[in-house]
Amino acid sequence: MAARSIVKMGTPSLFEKSRPWPADKFDSPELHALLADMKDSMIAANGAGLAAPQIGENVRVVIFEVDNNSRYPKREPIPFTVLINPLLLPASDEKVDDWEGCLSVPGMRGLVPRYPKLRYTGFDQSGAAIDRTVDGFHARVVQHEVDHLDGVLYPMRITDMTKFGYTEILFPNLVGDDDN
Ligand code: NI
Repeated sequence: MAARSIVKMGTPSLFEKSRPWPADKFDSPELHALLADMKDSMIAANGAGLAAPQIGENVRVVIFEVDNNSRYPKREPIPFTVLINPLLLPASDEKVDDWEGCLSVPGMRGLVPRYPKLRYTGFDQSGAAIDRTVDGFHARVVQHEVDHLDGVLYPMRITDMTKFGYTEILFPNLVGDDDN
């Protein structure tokens, strides 16, 4: 298992809709190998999340995690999660803006409207059902990752393009990273 290079914006496969993970391939060597590469790649890139298309696999598999450590002092921790074939169920039509970055769009940040609270369902690597209701950064991260499975990158959701730019300009004092 190894960290793979991250596919960057401009690559056509990032704009494709990914196919569902096959129901008969949970807990398979193929899935465990994919997840190991995804986790290694996310850690190597200091990411908070990663979708399979970002390492060149167009399947509906995402991972995310925010440790309770000093790298993300303002973010609530999110347990390490493997989410396969996800479904998002927003609590309402309301959206709120917050800043996002993406490992496929390095060095940049943008202000993105997202649902502040939602329920999500899906499966873990063994095929066990996941059903969570979340808010805050957790809700934002899962929407960002699931967008990758539908061929959507966060710049495509920015409504005010004056709030899209280089991290070093927008946040000159930023320590650490939380791209996904
Ligand atoms: Ni991303």
